[in-house]
Amino acid sequence: MENQILQVLKNRRSIRRFKEEKVDKEIIEQVLKAGLLAPSSKNKKPVEFIVVEDKETLLGLKDSKDKGTEGLKTASFAIVVIADSQLSDVWVEDASIAAILIQIAASELGLGSCWIQIRNRKNDTVDSEDEVRKILNIPDKYSVLSIMALGYKDEDYASYDDKAYDFSKVHYGKY
Ligand SMILES: Cc1cc2nc3c(=O)[nH]c(=O)nc-3n(C[C@H](O)[C@H](O)[C@H](O)COP(=O)(O)O)c2cc1C
Repeated sequence: MENQILQVLKNRRSIRRFKEEKVDKEIIEQVLKAGLLAPSSKNKKPVEFIVVEDKETLLGLKDSKDKGTEGLKTASFAIVVIADSQLSDVWVEDASIAAILIQIAASELGLGSCWIQIRNRKNDTVDSEDEVRKILNIPDKYSVLSIMALGYKDEDYASYDDKAYDFSKVHYGKY
């Protein structure tokens, strides 16, 4: 029997199609607690979250980027991961840790999730980050890392198996 944390990590897959079923507030809160437990450089805690459940707003966010936003079409809710980039010079790392913890917790709570990259992305005409900032009224000092699309899965992917362990990427001692 494999170590429990490895099995948890094998089970997490990106899900881009969700059921209409609503997700209870208590479950959403548990997912958020995972994000709030994220460590941060110098313990500055620059990361904040915006929970979006409104359908129209979710569809607006979907259009903030040309490709890779299909998860937002059916998502029951989204968590937008932002950080005060004036507070920490390594906010990208801090926000990324929070984002993946959200995905792992969601998976363990029976939800599907997909990371939708916003930082350094654009649609035809505008910068995706500016677009998201405008839609959600986010103050300028915050940068937007990603939008996590979440909900009950309407598609299924197999868990990873031991073939995912590519030890050719591991170097001992020296490269
Ligand atoms: C930094 C990062 C950015 C990503 N951006 C997107 C995205 O914009 N749209 C999307 O549908 N998936 C996105 N993904 C999900 C990846 O495509 C997915 O993790 C990868 O294909 C592996 O599949 P898995 O998550 O099921 O293991 C992103 C993942 C990461 C880590």
